[in-house]
Amino acid sequence: ETIDWDPEQAGKGEYDHFMLKEIYEQPTSLAQAVEGRIDDGIDLEEFPPGAFEGIDRVQFVACGTSYHAAMYGALSLTQAGVDARALLANEYGASSPPVDDRTLVVAVTQSGETADTLSALRRAVRKGARTVTVTNVVGSTAAREADDSLLIRAGPEIGVAATKTFSSQAVALTLLAGRIVEDALAGDGLSDLDSLLAAADRLPGDIERLLTESDAAEIARRYRDSRSYFFLGRGQGYPVALEGALKFKEITYEHAEGFASGELKHGPLALVTEETPVFTVFTGIEDDRTLANAEEAATRGAPVIAICPADHPAADVADAHLEIPETDPRLAGLLANVQLQLLSYHAAELLDRPIDKPRNLAKSVTVE
Ligand code: G6P
Repeated sequence: ETIDWDPEQAGKGEYDHFMLKEIYEQPTSLAQAVEGRIDDGIDLEEFPPGAFEGIDRVQFVACGTSYHAAMYGALSLTQAGVDARALLANEYGASSPPVDDRTLVVAVTQSGETADTLSALRRAVRKGARTVTVTNVVGSTAAREADDSLLIRAGPEIGVAATKTFSSQAVALTLLAGRIVEDALAGDGLSDLDSLLAAADRLPGDIERLLTESDAAEIARRYRDSRSYFFLGRGQGYPVALEGALKFKEITYEHAEGFASGELKHGPLALVTEETPVFTVFTGIEDDRTLANAEEAATRGAPVIAICPADHPAADVADAHLEIPETDPRLAGLLANVQLQLLSYHAAELLDRPIDKPRNLAKSVTVE
């Protein structure tokens, strides 16, 4: 099925920027992403049971924000015991990972037109892989060139900084991963599938609540004069940390970096001072370790901002707190991501940046 839209007709309505409008559209876009795709199990019309029979390796190729969504989706596969990796499309040729007819290559591209991603997809086709494109655009080049495609149904995204397409990609990829796991492991599906599906069902409402209650504007004000902004996470929180930093640098022009929580002590800690707020994402996977990593930064004087549920231990020890509803660890990162989107937006607004059209960046990069 398709969703009709005309980007030229889409107005900002009551919002100052398309980015803010698109952040606020996420309850709707995520409801669309899962509509008809979950009942007692994962039900993808495009990929019925058995569709991925014979696949024993999965490679995701993507760029920018889509790469972070790809990392997010790949985790559901590796956590279930399936060989999966997310690869930067622009490194795919140079890294030459092994590909054969039991390899599924999934191109993740909002526009379906990113040159780097198309070239990785074409390499996969040449090598004999089975291919799938996960995209927002029906009939895009990547959708046409892959064997099959899965639509994320996010609706038009005008802001150059991707927001609602990231969350829809991550959800669609998590469902796709669930289907792949069932076939690749011959019947065994994702663990705690009921919990994941219930969380997916609750996601629109959870985001709605988060959007009304968010303290991100106040936190952006509090840390506005910092030197650099760090983002930490583990498991699904890691791509969310990378995406939080990417969004922040894209629209504020301030220095921001995302790290795997445990990597902080292997170098980045040298940069940590009172002037480097550390935004730490807690998803419920090894949170005690992540908290210990954040505390290492706090010991060096850095303010720690915990993104976690209200009664989480990190909320008590952190300098500030961005609250997310309690949910399945595989979707908690998406809630944290919405808080980080709002943080970047408000920080950029305080700096009076051209939020919808950051300098030097394009919505879709069609050259390699
Ligand atoms: C550009 C955009 C990014 C986007 C990337 C990949 O660099 O500015 O926001 O993530 O392309 O785009 P795609 O359409 O392939 O998802």
